[in-house]
Amino acid sequence: MTSMRKIHSFKGFSSAADKTIFNLEEDYGAHHYERIDFVVRQAKGCWLTDEKGNRYLDCLAAYSAANSGHHHPAITRAVMDALKGNYASVLSNVVYTDPLGLFLSRAALFAPQMAPRFGAHGNKVLPKNGGVESVETAIKTMRYFGFKHKGIEDGRQEIIVFDGNFHGRTISVVSFSSSKKYKQGFGPLTPGFVSVPFGDLEQVKKAITPHTCGILVEPMQGEGGMNIPPDGFLRGLRRLADDQDLLLICDEIQVGLGRTGKKFAFEHEGIVPDGVILGKALSGGLVPLSVFITNAKIMDMVFSKGSDGSTFGGYPLACVAGVAALKVFEDEKLAEKAAEKGKRLKEKIEQIAKKSVHVKAVRGKGLFIGIEVKSGDAKVFCRKLFKLGLIVNDSHGHTIRISPPLIINDHEMAFMLKQLEAVLVD
Ligand SMILES: Cc1ncc(COP(=O)(O)O)c(C=O)c1O
Repeated sequence: MTSMRKIHSFKGFSSAADKTIFNLEEDYGAHHYERIDFVVRQAKGCWLTDEKGNRYLDCLAAYSAANSGHHHPAITRAVMDALKGNYASVLSNVVYTDPLGLFLSRAALFAPQMAPRFGAHGNKVLPKNGGVESVETAIKTMRYFGFKHKGIEDGRQEIIVFDGNFHGRTISVVSFSSSKKYKQGFGPLTPGFVSVPFGDLEQVKKAITPHTCGILVEPMQGEGGMNIPPDGFLRGLRRLADDQDLLLICDEIQVGLGRTGKKFAFEHEGIVPDGVILGKALSGGLVPLSVFITNAKIMDMVFSKGSDGSTFGGYPLACVAGVAALKVFEDEKLAEKAAEKGKRLKEKIEQIAKKSVHVKAVRGKGLFIGIEVKSGDAKVFCRKLFKLGLIVNDSHGHTIRISPPLIINDHEMAFMLKQLEAVLVD
């Protein structure tokens, strides 16, 4: 690990040894994650530090939650000011707070007019915590739209989703996952979802019935193998949704907020959906915060007083972080940075791939890059890369996922490329 940078003085949360932490998790935690043997003591910018002060380059960025880098100074300061200033705690939703009002307005204006065919009413925002909660909000919206606007009998609404999707882990959402592991034994599952191959417009067309109310799509699939759909797919979905009066909702929890080199991944095809879901990096990765954004007309049709709610959804600390993170996104031009750096990084990875006997394909946009390996076992390479100071994970087993914080600099990219070459060209 000679090329890993080492820092000599740092203070984390506790002085408990790594071995103690492994044992505590083993004894007291649910075993629902496969972890690497690495206890992170500090995270700053693109670097993660272990007990001994060894630093690892974060090429995962918490699956896009750390787009602005870990502990971005401006976002951290905003959160600390809120805590010190006594305007951070959850207050219940019977009162107004200025962080919520300000955050809602920033988030609504951050997106283009959603569902423009329903009129220029502006956007409205429903805030939640983890991303999957906002996916549920989007599902409720599509179903209610089907019931109220299209006259579909309540309980018979259908939503089209895509094979290989990942939208989170609630019962309803795993009900339409393609992964058996996510749902086996957790039944009864939620009905009302029809899954078709990602990228296949003909199959979407065939799946539409009089009960279809919406289409839920990741513009690019993160967990499904870093999949970029064929050009024209999103435009085709847009046309179908318009023709059939369906809501087209984009889940941009992983690929939004600059990750693919655009503010929203749907911009790559020049479309505007009827609603968008954001999470992860929306709070700078410091506190859970997600939103569903749609045309005000649709939001007001679907949600009325008492029809939805969440204790922590839109609570002051999260909103303060959200306002700060959206400002950092604009001020630091994170989408533009991801586009420029991602282009260079992908070109260099493609050069490495040409020399490698292991690489099957390189795909991606911006700093959302997948390296599919011929053996189908990307984890082997991820483990080797960890030994060389990179934190990477696989996507769908067969693909090495490269998605570093969007603030990554040239020196850090050079370090990443050197280690990728060492492992892929042996
Ligand atoms: C595209 C997408 N949707 C939804 C989710 C679920 O978000 P969360 O884990 O915050 O509930 C994820 C998480 O990885 C995701 O990548």
